Amino acid sequence: MTSALTTAEIREKYLSFFEGKGHLRLPSHSLIAPDPTTLFTVAGMQPFKPQFLGAAARFPGHEGERKRVTTAQKCLRVNDIENVGRTLRHCSLLEMLGNFSFGDYFKRDAILFAWEFLTGAEWLALDPAKLHVTIYKDDQEAFDVWTRECGLPEERILRFDADENFWPADAPAKGPNGPCGPCSEIFYDRGPDFGSDTWADYQETRESARFLEIWNLVFPQYDRQDGGVLADLPYKNIDTGMGLERIASVLQNVPDFYSNDVFLPLVTRVAELSGKPYEGVTSLSHRVIAEHVRSVSMTVADGVTLSNTGRGYVIRKILRRASRHAYLLGLREPVLHTLVGLVVERMGGAYPELRERQAEVEAAIRAEETRFLTTLESGTTRLEAILAKIEKGEMLSGTEAFTLYDTYGFPLDLTREIAEEYGVGVDEAGFDRALEEQQERARAGSKYGKSELFGDVQEALDEVARTHGATDFVGYEDLVTEGRVLAVVERGETLTRLPAGSAAQVVLDRTPFYAEGGGEVGDRGWLEWQGGRGFVRDTRKSPQGLFLHDLTVEEGELTVGASVRGVVDLPERLSTQRHHTATHLLHAALRAVLGSGVRQAGSLVSPDRLRFDFSHGATLTPEQVREVERLVNRWVQADFPVTYAYMSLDEARATGAMALFGEKYGDTVRVVSVEGGVPFQDHVVTSRELCGGAHVKRTGEIGSFVIVSEEGLAAGVRRVEALAGEAATAYVREQLTTLSDLALTLNTNPAGLAERLAGLQGQLRDLNAQVTTLRRQLTQAQMGGGAAQDVRELGGFRVASLRLTGVEASELRGAADDLLDRSGADLAVVASDRGLVVKASRDAVSRGAHAGQLVGKLAL
Ligand code: SER
Repeated sequence: MTSALTTAEIREKYLSFFEGKGHLRLPSHSLIAPDPTTLFTVAGMQPFKPQFLGAAARFPGHEGERKRVTTAQKCLRVNDIENVGRTLRHCSLLEMLGNFSFGDYFKRDAILFAWEFLTGAEWLALDPAKLHVTIYKDDQEAFDVWTRECGLPEERILRFDADENFWPADAPAKGPNGPCGPCSEIFYDRGPDFGSDTWADYQETRESARFLEIWNLVFPQYDRQDGGVLADLPYKNIDTGMGLERIASVLQNVPDFYSNDVFLPLVTRVAELSGKPYEGVTSLSHRVIAEHVRSVSMTVADGVTLSNTGRGYVIRKILRRASRHAYLLGLREPVLHTLVGLVVERMGGAYPELRERQAEVEAAIRAEETRFLTTLESGTTRLEAILAKIEKGEMLSGTEAFTLYDTYGFPLDLTREIAEEYGVGVDEAGFDRALEEQQERARAGSKYGKSELFGDVQEALDEVARTHGATDFVGYEDLVTEGRVLAVVERGETLTRLPAGSAAQVVLDRTPFYAEGGGEVGDRGWLEWQGGRGFVRDTRKSPQGLFLHDLTVEEGELTVGASVRGVVDLPERLSTQRHHTATHLLHAALRAVLGSGVRQAGSLVSPDRLRFDFSHGATLTPEQVREVERLVNRWVQADFPVTYAYMSLDEARATGAMALFGEKYGDTVRVVSVEGGVPFQDHVVTSRELCGGAHVKRTGEIGSFVIVSEEGLAAGVRRVEALAGEAATAYVREQLTTLSDLALTLNTNPAGLAERLAGLQGQLRDLNAQVTTLRRQLTQAQMGGGAAQDVRELGGFRVASLRLTGVEASELRGAADDLLDRSGADLAVVASDRGLVVKASRDAVSRGAHAGQLVGKLAL
């Protein structure tokens, strides 16, 4: 093993080999998946799905398009965690070495690169005679490259269906949607010491201790869509993945992962700590601990907090499994955190975040371990007492398993594993039922109910609000402000950090971003911090008064506690403000013109438009619409100040401020007033409303106002849509352009359009009348002229048929009547290039003739 390559050396060789082939070396993406198909990153290609689907291959910090990329990606696969440690080639955390092409090179080059890297003397120098491959059943191209160009004998190539040689496996039938394609897998023959099977056996067994899959070359050329549709991607791509742990055990010629240079120090340390030597296959606990500490360390370093939901739950489960195995080895004090240093030593070079956050990771693991040891003591004692009373082959009841989970925090998979050691099963359906019932109770008792956004993180948000209070909103006055990150929430769980490319809800202590409410949309803009920046797509408010910024990190990484500068998108916000103040003025104008029966029933205020729903019994006349519009524009031209003040609800009412019917207000309300009225008929109209929204400072900022539609929404409810500022002028400009284009087409000017149209309509009427006459004449001429007529016997009836040309379908019926009369036949069939009609005489009908059936036959 002395001369064998270390894991770090293999990783470096791989990346530099592909750099030499024109690939850009990029750092690993975080373990927090870059897209919502999985919780954790499970493959090297995942961060590149946008490029596979056609997005420009540009990467922060690198000039131009880079269509060849290589990475060592940390991946976490947790679907069969209970097998980790039991089998010797199973890891939850794995490193995937990958080379990717976005519409650049394809299958042939991918295979030739792989061959060169595996067998080249200065690269891995593997014996070509040991290499075997599988290909997708009818992939002749891959077959030809392997046999003709790499010289692989045919018998070393096996063909499989989409369940083996497609990535993701079985994607056409089972999904997931997204980029996919056939693949070719490379296997290494470890020799008869590992198993007596042959390569040909693999066709049947599909499992072998002897033939180890080391590299998967995927040729993504399809975009799998709903219903198993395989659409072509815009171009053909390459995605390859070589399991670093596997290739390391081949090159180091060790029997399994746990003896390679990353794991051996870990299992050895476990042996030292417990005083129980590592004895290969039988030392399950050593392996579980080594493997799991590695996964948990990497994941916590990427910002996952141990918790009861989502990723945090998965990681807690993994840690608890390791903790239990430490307990089984006789360790009664927390020890797992002392292994983190070894993981950092081996992997910190390639994943610097691990080194930076070592102390944080150790503290998180230690705290969880301490907590869990107490649980384990009491839970195990209780469980073992129960199991001792159950016969082998019997079941532990679901309620019992649930009590252990609920009262002792004892996870189901642990219960399952311990019960298995006693030869006892667990009634998991019963467990699920008990869990479901408990969740129902919790939901019913919850203060806010469960919503997609706030459901699972309610507790965490409560905690943030208790510690820091509600978010301080400063955005009525300031559109740029400094704040601090209090929490990061993503799909129902809290994270400690958020990597570039990921999206989550970010809670700040102070913010200039308006949170959606009162009909006004949430602000958009940017968060900037030392070394990073992200885009805020929307802002919402939690029931605790915390502002959640819907952030996508564009550069750098965001950590909880970081200072950030919030920058609201200024043009958008100004436009929203124009629409909001315009909504108040519209409301006041509608009440003036239509009467005080008008009540607001709903509104939407966005940067692009406003929508106002109100109670009113009748359609607005065009004069009323114009009057309302004119009133609002008078306010705009008067350029009155817009002010706001806080006061008690009673005081607000006393000023005549309008409150929304049925709306709940706190003790203190905000009143928005336009400081000036406009005359309408014999009185002056004013605007003063209870409102938490963002407004212009003076009405003149609105610029201009135009109503674009008025319609009924439900009985007694009308909807007006209107535009303010630039949106209004752009709309008017567009209408004017349409009008002059139309006029131009009709050879006149906008003022002459009405007259021109009336003239054209008259001409059209005359022409239509002439056409009708001409058609009739055409039919008659053909019939009178004896157009090809034919009388035949068909099923005991005399059938007369006639073929006409250029006759509309609408004329055919009359022609058929006429033919029936003139020929004296039982049935008449008239056809033209526009249709076909059959008529039966009354007598024929009484004898059973059926015109419809005849049409069916003829039309066939
Ligand atoms: N995406 C493929 C895999 O994960 C190859 O990188 O196996």
